[in-house]
Amino acid sequence: MGIIRLFSSLRGLFAAVSIFLFTFSIWNYNSSTGTAKSKSYVGKGTVVDLESILTDVPPGQGSSAWTEGDEGKFITIGQPVSKIQFNDKGIVDVRTGVPLEGANEGSTFNLAVLKLPRGSKWGFVGVARGPTRLRHFMQINGHSSREQVLVALGLNMTSEGHLIAVTRGQTLDFPMIPREGCSSAGSWIATYGAEDPRLLWTDAGTPALTYARSALDNDRCRSVGLVNDLRSIFPELDAALATGVEDVSPYDGYKEPGQGNDRELYRSDKQGVIEKNWMPFYPGALPDGETAIPHIHYTVKSALSLRPIEITPTRAIYEDVDLGQSTTKSCIGTAHSKSFKIHQASPLYRLTLCDRGCIVTEQNTVNIALSHTQSPTRQYGRFLATFNVSYPFNPISVGPRFHLDGCDDENDINYALSLVPIQQSDIDPSGKPKSTPQIVQPDHFFLDDRMLITMGHNDKEMTSVMTTVREILSRQHMC
Ligand SMILES: *[C@@H]1O[C@H](CO)[C@@H](O)[C@H](O)[C@H]1NC(C)=O
Ligand SMILES: *[C@@H]1O[C@H](CO)[C@@H](O)[C@H](O)[C@H]1NC(C)=O
Repeated sequence: MGIIRLFSSLRGLFAAVSIFLFTFSIWNYNSSTGTAKSKSYVGKGTVVDLESILTDVPPGQGSSAWTEGDEGKFITIGQPVSKIQFNDKGIVDVRTGVPLEGANEGSTFNLAVLKLPRGSKWGFVGVARGPTRLRHFMQINGHSSREQVLVALGLNMTSEGHLIAVTRGQTLDFPMIPREGCSSAGSWIATYGAEDPRLLWTDAGTPALTYARSALDNDRCRSVGLVNDLRSIFPELDAALATGVEDVSPYDGYKEPGQGNDRELYRSDKQGVIEKNWMPFYPGALPDGETAIPHIHYTVKSALSLRPIEITPTRAIYEDVDLGQSTTKSCIGTAHSKSFKIHQASPLYRLTLCDRGCIVTEQNTVNIALSHTQSPTRQYGRFLATFNVSYPFNPISVGPRFHLDGCDDENDINYALSLVPIQQSDIDPSGKPKSTPQIVQPDHFFLDDRMLITMGHNDKEMTSVMTTVREILSRQHMC
């Protein structure tokens, strides 16, 4: 009895403290964004020398190759790559509640990761490609049908900075069927389901997932889907996630009739294109506290952004952002012009170019993303570029190609999916997280952070490399 009473009074105390903290965060949030938007705020934030930070050449890197075709070698950054151990046999099928049946092709790979706010039961949530279900009994145009599966899991970080799974995997349920629109893509006509996961915090404070999916319309092939709250299809996350801190909202499970949480992101003027790997982002240096549907960086070679113009129960419909006035839209394509192809890799993340604790403004904050170069033989290289957080979201700078320690880009596919800011307190829980004067989301980077890059290795394994923001940011060319 005594213990129960003690427990319930502790709970009461805890609830009171969290209500206080929550109220405090709302108040603090309003006051910070409120001022951030007003003109008087401009210039009051931490002033940084953007160009000298971005173009800095660390010792010993001056003579390294910068892009394809240069003399010398690309630099190698980060700590040695580590493999994330995971048991595919333990994956639970959310439809049946028992271990996944009939998954017979491949293994779990291509891990996207999202950092959770402090106080959560797991340090991170991950979504990866799981084993595919190949079904020889079902044929379309002579090809066996294949259902691609996404798997969600909780992860923690070891004191060495490696990720470990702390839950079983759970499939994410996306009912889909093959599409006639894929007929010109050969055997792809028989492939359906979900792939290419990317995770992000929406400005509304929800953990969101974008993924490649079978198109909604039968005469199109593949499109991009958005789940604006992963808790709706991965209930364990709701129990694990701390809310009311770092701008994270409580789960609102309410769905309008027929609406659901799962939307197709739709660019109405490009009917025939197979859409993949869109780079979501939200305008501004700090979240507005309410926007769920992201803006998109659509291509990087010649920069093009999309903005949502209409939300229907099943779709978010996008329109191109006019970069007509911008002189920097081909900056990235020009800098890496000898690369065969450039593809998006990670979503865009906010990075403030001063140490954690400084005041965030639109002048000291950029959006960053990794992109992949791809050779004709499907070798992947990678580089980081920065973009303006305000309209029209033009590129600001583009960085050099780099290798990650322990990754062989000539012989292996090392496919990056996400970037995660890591503070010392994430690795050493006895340390205190640094406080920031404004409330920032868990995936907001600062200049003195480390950076975890998560990847797929040869379409077979999940891997990660730990580096630092400063190390990955150097030797940029200004646009
Ligand atoms: C994962 O990390 C959280 C937060 O640091 C901790 O409370 C939890 O016990 C850890 N879980 C496991 C299985 O180690
Ligand atoms: C982004 O563009 C805005 C408006 O042109 C400008 O005020 C701001 O300084 C730019 N941000 C950066 C980081 O260059």
